[in-house]
Parts: sequence; C-alpha cells; structure tokens
Amino acid sequence: MSALTPVRAFRKTLLGLAVAGTLGAAQAHAGEVEVLHWWTSGGEARAANVLKQLMEDEGHQWEDFAVAGGGGETAMTVLKSRAMSGNPPSAAQIKGPEIQEWGELGLLGSLDDVAQSEGWDDMLPDVVADVMKHDGNYVAVPVNVHRVNWLWANPKILEEAGVELPTTLDEMFAAGEAIREAGYIPLAHGGQPWQDATVFESVLLASAGTDFYRRAMVDLDPDALGGEEMIQALETFKRTRELMDDDMSGRDWNIATSMVISDKAAMQLMGDWAKGEFTAAGLTPGEDYLCAPAPGTQDAFTFNIDSLAMFQVSDDSEREAQKTLARLVLEPEFQEAFNLAKGSIPARPDLDMSEFDTCAQQSLEAFQQTAEEGGLVPSMAHGMAVRSDVQGAMFDVITNFFNSPDMDAEQAAQRMVNAAQAAL
Ligand code: GAL
Repeated sequence: MSALTPVRAFRKTLLGLAVAGTLGAAQAHAGEVEVLHWWTSGGEARAANVLKQLMEDEGHQWEDFAVAGGGGETAMTVLKSRAMSGNPPSAAQIKGPEIQEWGELGLLGSLDDVAQSEGWDDMLPDVVADVMKHDGNYVAVPVNVHRVNWLWANPKILEEAGVELPTTLDEMFAAGEAIREAGYIPLAHGGQPWQDATVFESVLLASAGTDFYRRAMVDLDPDALGGEEMIQALETFKRTRELMDDDMSGRDWNIATSMVISDKAAMQLMGDWAKGEFTAAGLTPGEDYLCAPAPGTQDAFTFNIDSLAMFQVSDDSEREAQKTLARLVLEPEFQEAFNLAKGSIPARPDLDMSEFDTCAQQSLEAFQQTAEEGGLVPSMAHGMAVRSDVQGAMFDVITNFFNSPDMDAEQAAQRMVNAAQAAL
C-alpha cells in the first residue's frame, strides 16, 4: 500500500508528466490568456471584469475560466485535473505557499523581465513580494491585499436590539442574545469548511493572540496545537454556533452577506471580499453597514493576498499576453478599479487612496501598523499560512469539530496535532 497522501501522490504524478515533457503544449490562439479564478459573486465578478476589459483594450483575448466556490477549493481541484491532462490555463489564481508547490513542479513561467522593467522589487512590500517568488524569481503577480479578520454589521438591527458593535468576544456573545430577542439572526454564516475555518482563525486570534496564532497556525508547533489555549479557543469557536441559524449548512458566503444586507442577520465574520457585496448593492459604509476588526483582534491583521500565477507556455503570443496581464495587474488603473470593487486594498502601497472608503483606509492603516509593530499574520483559512495538504487536514478537523456534537475540544486539539504531523 502506498504511504503517500493523495496530495503527495498528485504531486508525484504531475512531476512525472512534467518530466516526460507532456505539459506546456500551446493550446491557445494568438494573444489569448485563459485565466482560472473563483471570482463569481456579484462584487467579485465586477472586479474580475476590470482585468478582462483592460486586457481586451490592449488587443488580447481573455478566456474566462471561472470556477464557482468560495475559498477556491473547487477551482484548485479543477486546476489540478487540467494540469494533469497536460493542459493548464495560462494564468490561475494561486496563492501563498501553494505558489511554491506549483513552482517546485517546474510548471510556472518566470515574470522576472516584467518585474524588472516595472520595478516590482521597489514597489511591493517584502511580505507581498516574498510570496510571489519561487527560488528568487517572480512567478506570480499580486492583485490585492484582503484583510480576513473583519466583522460586518447591519446598524439598523444593532440599534433595534439596543447593542453596540462588539469589540470583544464576550460582547459579541452578549450582543447575540439581545439580537436574537429582537427577532434576528445574530451571525450570518455559511457552513462550508473554509468559512468555518475563517471564523475559527478570528476566534483563535482573539482568544490566544497573534504570537500564539503564529506558533499554532504557521509553525505548527505541537505544544501550541494541542495545548490549553487551543482547547479554550476551540470551545469558544464552537459557541459561535449559538449565534448562527439552522439553515447555514452549505450556504455560500455571499448569501450570508446578503442576509446582513437584507435585514435578516445582524453580523458576519468574513474577509473584506464581503465589502464587495455591500458595494455592489450600492451601500455606504458607516451609514448602511458597518465594518470593524473581528472582536478582540484590533491589533491583528490576517492577510490574504490574491495573486495570479502564470504557467509556462510555448506560444510566443500567449507569452506576450501573459506579460501584458502581469504588467496591467500592478498598474494604478487596475489596482484602483479592481480593489474598489473587490473590497480589498491595493497590493502596492504607493497609490492615491482618496477614492477608497473608510473600511479600506482603516485596512491600509492596520496593515502598515501591524507590519511595523507585529500582528501581521497570514491567514490559514485562505491558504497563506501552510501548504495545501496541511490546510486541508486542518479544515477537516475544524469542520468536523464544529459540526459534531460528540467531539470535544481536547480531541479536536489532538487531531490538529496529528493532522500537522501527518502532513509534515
Ligand atoms: C478568498 C479569496 C478572495 C475571495 C474569497 C471568497 O480565498 O482570496 O479573493 O474570492 O476567497 O471566494
């Protein structure tokens, strides 16, 4: 019996294909880029369309390869099968350590020439540039910086329930009771593993702090993963179920956001792509909806950087189209238009932010402050902290624990230790 995990087995098969030279056959027409992404909600589609438009304005063809499914798990499965069949798209939304996994397979093309002529090294913060490089070469271009640890709220419901925007977890649970009594759902949520993990990591940060978060979620330190602070965080995480509704299972994140928009639910713990939905609905922050750091995480910034990695292609015009795409992504015009629609902040910090709303301004300030003072941490739920096999194993534990009445927090913590060990 093979001792390989499915992910490792996949890597091996791909490596075999790459070595055998079956990948990289030119499939596309001249000047065409096929772009795989999972930006399919209202706000996300508006944002993706900005890039399509800019590419078309430069005379290239954009072949949209959108794979629905928040968090991108389905998109990554589809990408793997396309790569396995020797026909990857020219560009794909690949993030964080997963960029290294594809880089190690030798499938990504270098963007160093574009990076050099556009001055990416000077333009990008190190924390962003580092993620985009494999073996010191740029293989991906950053699109934005999302903050994950946000709370979104409906001010009318909070007022009717007589509560303020919670700033601590205790306040959030107390507000939840009052909101429930006023006849609303306290916390909109979609029961999908990545959404459970998104809530979990914010609760973990609030309950155990950023140093602990780093030890557990980035370094995978077994003492942290299996320790008392983790057990407590898991217990608190499970309590958030009290704030959710019975129909949450399988619900998409943007449907949960729409519950806040349509006065059904008071709050949502979600990254700032949720703001893209409020924006698409024509709403104004501070008036129609509120944004604040997830309760208890004021000093932290969980970052999630979207990026597009380019696969090696042999067709010259396709290569040209890739380079144009990479250049356009970091140009001010794209950075502003895309991020206004997407809810994120630009990947380069030197841009005029006057068109951005108060939530984005707050996000930029928090990004810079946490980068200087500590507190800037990669999101585990969004593929920035650990490689995809560890992330998958963590998702399983978190979701099973969240949904199982029988598993207690000690058992879940122990399973996290095992999950991290098995994947290392
Ligand atoms: C994140 C991604 C965002 C957004 C979100 C919901 O992982 O970085 O851009 O798409 O998933 O799908």
